Amino acid sequence: MQTNTHSEVYRRYPKGDPSWLIDMLQDLQEERGYLAEEEMQRVADHIGVPVSRVYGVATFYNQFRFQPFGDYVIKVCRGTACHVKGSFDLLTTLETELGVKAGETTRDRVFTLETVACIGACSIAPVIAVNEQFHGGLTTKSVQKLLRTYRAQATKKEAAHEPVS
Ligand code: FES
Repeated sequence: MQTNTHSEVYRRYPKGDPSWLIDMLQDLQEERGYLAEEEMQRVADHIGVPVSRVYGVATFYNQFRFQPFGDYVIKVCRGTACHVKGSFDLLTTLETELGVKAGETTRDRVFTLETVACIGACSIAPVIAVNEQFHGGLTTKSVQKLLRTYRAQATKKEAAHEPVS
């Protein structure tokens, strides 16, 4: 993922041509994982439209995100089978525990919470996926326990990166 100030993407698209707006946003997101706020103005300047138009388009489509992903991306399945088995309660528990709503990332950037449609594991509903690892048959209690496990793992990883004094 590139984090420098000026992307290759700007060289790929002609200046002053608004018809490339969506393509540019897609490429920038692919490159950086999300659309940073300052990128909106830069795109607007490049294609020659007001920044409000760039925001308008970017917020209209669900595919665009404005925050980087956390280290752990939690996807709560909201398909029918999971819904019937209580996935809404799992979602609200996770929202409360993490202090974010679905679609958001925690301030420490450790967790991103998302909802998804059926992820194909209905037999173990309700299911959540954490970085593509499935956890089924969850209750509000067990999802809290699971979150504690991931928190501990995150803390351990962070500690391992700290310089040894
Ligand atoms: S509805 Fe959740 S896995 Fe199918």
